[in-house]
Amino acid sequence: MNTDAMTLDVAAVELIEREATEALQRASNPDEVRLATAAAIGKRSALAALNQSLAAMDPDQRKRAGAVLNEVRERLTRLAAERRAALDDEQRGRRADAERLDLSETLPWVRRGSLNLVQQTRDRLEDTFLGMGFSVAEGPEVDSDWNTFDALNIPPAHPARSNFDTLYVDFGPPESTLLRPHTSPVQIRLMQSQPPPIYSVMPGRCYRKDTPDARHIPGFSQIEGLVVDRGITFGDLAGTIDTFTRAYFGPNIGSRLRPAYFPFTEPSAEYEITCAICEGAGCRTCSNTGWIELGGCGMVHPKVFENVGLDPEEWSGFAFGFGIDRLAQMRHEIPDMRVLLDNDLRFIRQF
Ligand code: DAH
Repeated sequence: MNTDAMTLDVAAVELIEREATEALQRASNPDEVRLATAAAIGKRSALAALNQSLAAMDPDQRKRAGAVLNEVRERLTRLAAERRAALDDEQRGRRADAERLDLSETLPWVRRGSLNLVQQTRDRLEDTFLGMGFSVAEGPEVDSDWNTFDALNIPPAHPARSNFDTLYVDFGPPESTLLRPHTSPVQIRLMQSQPPPIYSVMPGRCYRKDTPDARHIPGFSQIEGLVVDRGITFGDLAGTIDTFTRAYFGPNIGSRLRPAYFPFTEPSAEYEITCAICEGAGCRTCSNTGWIELGGCGMVHPKVFENVGLDPEEWSGFAFGFGIDRLAQMRHEIPDMRVLLDNDLRFIRQF
């Protein structure tokens, strides 16, 4: 009997283990680990061959040699499992890196956008009125001639209708549907949809057949106000407007009410503030008057109450309507309103 076959060649086992260990450590992906594992401890491995040779040993030898080979196999098995786990981790990490979307990333050459100045102004106005105890309501930009004119005490032949430069929509009988030229029809909708008391503001877009100039743009925004309750007086209106002006513009801008005419209010007034561009000295924007008209206001006309089925003997109220673009223009001292439409980045980026 071959004595070589009967004892374990320890040097050979060490070499086999060292080579298998190195191969496993070199493996740089799961496939290579699988191949190196098979080569180290698989059925056709050198280790398996040595294991077969145990059969030819005498029992004592076999026991010792078997224990040695078992330890080697256990070390290689453990190493193979560790390598596989490490590479799996690495691969998962790489995939996560590749798939990561960093939403917080800000690229220095990409500027974040901001809301249009008119929208910002509208938001700020809503906040101001909410702080004064008003709620915010909205109405549609396309409305009926009845809500827009008739109900507001402007019957069909009334000259005030022609002041509005209304854009009509091709729908229903001629001139029955229109792009609202003011937000006042929302007053009507509100009074018809809820019982008083009402303390609401109604912001929104309006349209008129206007030629753009420093103070006019054909698509503009207004904010309407309506208060209906018992015992409301002109003093309440004046106080509300004064409080609003201070809250919105700060102490440097003054306001005044001047007698005016609107069919839906009686008495009516024009609401003017100090021109912020020239601080009252007179300039092109305010046509050298030192004042800018921001809108109208007045005590709700009894006819309007009757038109929506409210008893003018029981209820009284005031209303106002201001141009939001004009308010933005004054607050930010913008000499010409047309820049609000130009989309010139040099302007837009300032807000
Ligand atoms: N709707 C008017 C306009 O656009 C502004 C206005 C005036 C609204 C008086 C009101 C008001 O509510 O009471 O010219």
